[in-house]
Amino acid sequence: MSLHSYIRAMPKVELHVHLEGSVRPTTLLALSHRNKAPLPARTVAELEQWYKFRDFRHFLGIYFAVSRCIRAPEDLELITREFLSGQARQNILHSEVTLTPYTHYVNYGIEFGDQLQAINEARRWAEEELGVTMSLTIDYSREQEVGPSLMVADWAIGGLGNGVSAFGLGGPEVGNPPEKFRAAFERANSAGLPCVPHAGETVGPESVWGALRTLHAARIGHGVRCMEDAELVSELRARQTPLEVCPTSNVCLKIFDSLHTHPLPAMLDEGLFVTINSDDPPMFGTTLTDEYIATADVCTLDVEVVDRLVLNALQASFLTEEKKTRLRNDCVGTFSTLRKRHL
Ligand code: ADE
Ligand code: ZN
Repeated sequence: MSLHSYIRAMPKVELHVHLEGSVRPTTLLALSHRNKAPLPARTVAELEQWYKFRDFRHFLGIYFAVSRCIRAPEDLELITREFLSGQARQNILHSEVTLTPYTHYVNYGIEFGDQLQAINEARRWAEEELGVTMSLTIDYSREQEVGPSLMVADWAIGGLGNGVSAFGLGGPEVGNPPEKFRAAFERANSAGLPCVPHAGETVGPESVWGALRTLHAARIGHGVRCMEDAELVSELRARQTPLEVCPTSNVCLKIFDSLHTHPLPAMLDEGLFVTINSDDPPMFGTTLTDEYIATADVCTLDVEVVDRLVLNALQASFLTEEKKTRLRNDCVGTFSTLRKRHL
């Protein structure tokens, strides 16, 4: 018995995982064929080869080709069902999942309402049949024009209470600072929709400062490059802003050379509010469970820290306080039972 088996069995919560980046490889090949959206890969092995990224730009090109395979609301329902089945198999009881709806609107004219309805079908099915919950972060990709970001903010606001819990910002950080999207984020924040931009991944501290000060981020996607600025670290510690750290993603996209040089242990030592996430799991050859196992091994985390990372994700989620309390009590009870069995 071991910490590995404990991690596999423990209840978990995930805050940073992209729906389009989570399509099962076999399903992606089938969608590519069915929807006549060719990929430079015909087998799972070839997909794995294709998923070797030179840098962030290279990754984004591949990410858009993958997104192009999603052509209809039924495709979104299918990939959400499969995604949530995978989360349930890992004992991930709640997931906050990023969707980039403007891509599907531009590519194939799929209305946001139809996208949301399809995903909500899968969400309700998973809640009833699998006992796992999810909500959506509606994100906007930074390489798009500013204009439509206001429309997408309105889509997200309209979905609040109907499966949407946050508004996000993804895509290429370089050359697209948070300030560019101030208006859309102001609109979301004013409507009571929390904002969770990616920042401090491919750009350094100035991007995280912008996310905090201009976008009023409730959590930061990645945020790992905050460690380059001691004043920013103090600010994030004082605010206890949750950081959605995705260790393997950072290595695959060349933010850090290896898990051994990843700043996660230093972030914990600094008293930052850290959560662990998978980002685009099949594209990075990982799962949330693998992320916990790898970081526990490489960073020699003990079980108390592993438990805390899960409880951090739960606390930083956008579940209601009532649901958080219930889930926290369940998790803490299960942790103590599992410790006796696995450790
Ligand atoms: N979209 C999917 N994965 C992403 C990442 N790691 N950073 C920014 N945008 C993304
Ligand atoms: Zn991401």
